[in-house]
Amino acid sequence: MKPGFPLFPEQASTMASRVDALYFYLVAVSGFMSLLIAGLIIYFAIRYRRRSESELPRGVEGSLKLEIAWSVIPLVISLTFFFWGASLFFAMSRMPPEAIEVYVVGKQWMWKFQHLDGQREINELHVPVGRPVKLTMASEDVIHSFYVPAFRVKRDVLPGRYASAWFEATKPGRYHLFCAEYCGTRHSGMIGWVEVMEPVAYQAWLSVGTGSGSLADAGAKLFVQHACNTCHRADSQARGPNLEGLFGKPVRLQDSQTLIADEQYIRESIVAPNAKLVEGFQPLMPTFQGLINEEGLLQLTAYIKSLSKTATPSPGEAAPPIQQLSPEPETNR
Ligand code: CUA
Repeated sequence: MKPGFPLFPEQASTMASRVDALYFYLVAVSGFMSLLIAGLIIYFAIRYRRRSESELPRGVEGSLKLEIAWSVIPLVISLTFFFWGASLFFAMSRMPPEAIEVYVVGKQWMWKFQHLDGQREINELHVPVGRPVKLTMASEDVIHSFYVPAFRVKRDVLPGRYASAWFEATKPGRYHLFCAEYCGTRHSGMIGWVEVMEPVAYQAWLSVGTGSGSLADAGAKLFVQHACNTCHRADSQARGPNLEGLFGKPVRLQDSQTLIADEQYIRESIVAPNAKLVEGFQPLMPTFQGLINEEGLLQLTAYIKSLSKTATPSPGEAAPPIQQLSPEPETNR
């Protein structure tokens, strides 16, 4: 596609040209079919018009070849839509493992971003060019939709669960971010910018304003504040599962089912602890629904994830293990 093609947003991500190619293919096939059918209707109307009052049309015999042709050709064309669409869908749904993680909270009427290193932004998202960025998103209230036209990324952001999306920006610049789901009076004002920066500029930006500590640190504080560490611990007094090394690992539940501990599972275990009880533990944990907001839940999630990365700590991400976080030694127990 030519740059600056009217009515089209800039192509600024690795997915943009792939999405556009499929889009133009669909438009081209639909346009061709419409013209073909309209043309044939006009042609047949003229060619087979009734020429005199007394004219009687000849009977039409069926044709097997014709029947097969007009069944199989559309089928093959539809299947190209399906396979092309599915391959693109899978590419968009599969998160690149080396992606930079950013946590997003949608809220009437703003976008809040939290970076792993601790930076927080509202209605602005800074990312480096040429690196995949994974977004883990939740809504504090109603359904919003994270939409960056230049990246061809649009994903609904739902209350009560996590949604993920990823993109890799290909051009530095400032790109519009919209909310694409009507969410109340100021829906139209729920807009922002994604600032795509050169790697060096991005590093410089990252190093400014990390005074508050990393996202996992913030989660670690919450973990102690809500006294999670009194039950979730590695020693014999633990009344809840030990969370070290939990993330990404299989968990066996009371009902003998097994699941992989992902972001969604961790969030659910905080707001609805008894929904999926881990084998060998009692349903003792109270719900934290309403006590911790979505940002806090994301911080806790980042902290619990960081507990699994102790083998390969990356700067700014490593959080101290749980035991060291106990506010005071056990003097009153
Ligand atoms: Cu948020 Cu529309």
